[in-house]
Amino acid sequence: MKNLVAQPELGEEELNNVVQAVKSGWISSKGEFIHTFEEEFAHYCGIKYGVATSNGTVALHLALTALGIGTGDEVLVPSLTFVGTANAVTYTGAKPIFIDSHPIYWCINPDRLEEKITPWTRAIIPVHLYGHPCDMDAIMQVVRQHNLYLIEDADEAHGAEYKGRKVGALGDIACFSFYGNKIITTGEGGMCLTNDESLYRSMQILRDHGADPARRYWHDRIGFNYRMTNLQAAVGVAQLLRLDSFVERKRQLASWYNSLLQGVPGIELPVEMPWARNVYWMYSIVVSDSFPISRDGLMNRLAEEGVETRPFFWSMHLLPPYSQGMSFPQAERLSHRGINLPSSVSLTREQAEYIAAIIRKEGGV
Ligand SMILES: Cc1ncc(COP(=O)(O)O)c(C=O)c1O
Repeated sequence: MKNLVAQPELGEEELNNVVQAVKSGWISSKGEFIHTFEEEFAHYCGIKYGVATSNGTVALHLALTALGIGTGDEVLVPSLTFVGTANAVTYTGAKPIFIDSHPIYWCINPDRLEEKITPWTRAIIPVHLYGHPCDMDAIMQVVRQHNLYLIEDADEAHGAEYKGRKVGALGDIACFSFYGNKIITTGEGGMCLTNDESLYRSMQILRDHGADPARRYWHDRIGFNYRMTNLQAAVGVAQLLRLDSFVERKRQLASWYNSLLQGVPGIELPVEMPWARNVYWMYSIVVSDSFPISRDGLMNRLAEEGVETRPFFWSMHLLPPYSQGMSFPQAERLSHRGINLPSSVSLTREQAEYIAAIIRKEGGV
């Protein structure tokens, strides 16, 4: 199948860096590429400090732990997200409290936060879903009013901007994933970014089993092995050089899809709010009742024509471990009706035309 949802693009630079790391003998979690990747990615996002991790889920867990969040605490998260966001909260002993989605741009709805605040609420984790930033000013207002922490889950939104500032620079800590389907990848991998030096030091220590940097094998708290390898970072350093061009190509692909799918009755297209620079990690559509076939029917038709798609995430409150007997109408609507279309940076205009033609035909256009 050629029309893939998310195919990484790796080349000579990645290969050369990995060869260099192998030749240096530094293949575990010490080595030059790790510091370079941390510094350069943090710099790219306009943030002071980076702590590279083995994946995005543990980056979130590390951030929550560094902020002292644990048993008895509550953390507000969108119901519509990848399960890793909620799981990271659960690992700390805290409880994820779900919030419905915004009907237009699909991220956490800031108008629904206030009603879920309790004396136990400690933090909010907005997720920049599928590459579109959350409404950070509205979220920050609630954060300030209730003295909460803000952790951005920017796993899906490398390079996205809110009011001209890169996402990741807006909260106490931001977390990124570099899984193979992300905008830039290290295979598996993640990073926490912060401007706060003491949180930075804490996260470095917690990432390494709580090891005291000044006293060998002394551990005055329980930490984790959440380290990234130099091999992963070698790939990351090379990928970072391409990040702006990947974002441009994702945005180009989105503008092709937008013009090709505009006006198909029953198909809702992704938006870009006036305050947002969407990086379209996944170009996604929502199939409504007025479309002649169901969401799953359309996905099957596309698969028959060699087009890979993914359904939207299940809303967390519908999953057995998190089922709270609650209803979040927007998250459920999106979850049941959303499709991620092929969004690989290598997709051509011809491929977008081919994919859109199938959707238009099924829509009777
Ligand atoms: C929103 C979100 N949060 C958390 C994660 C977890 O990241 P990882 O798969 O690197 O652990 C992902 C992606 O996979 C994600 O999309």
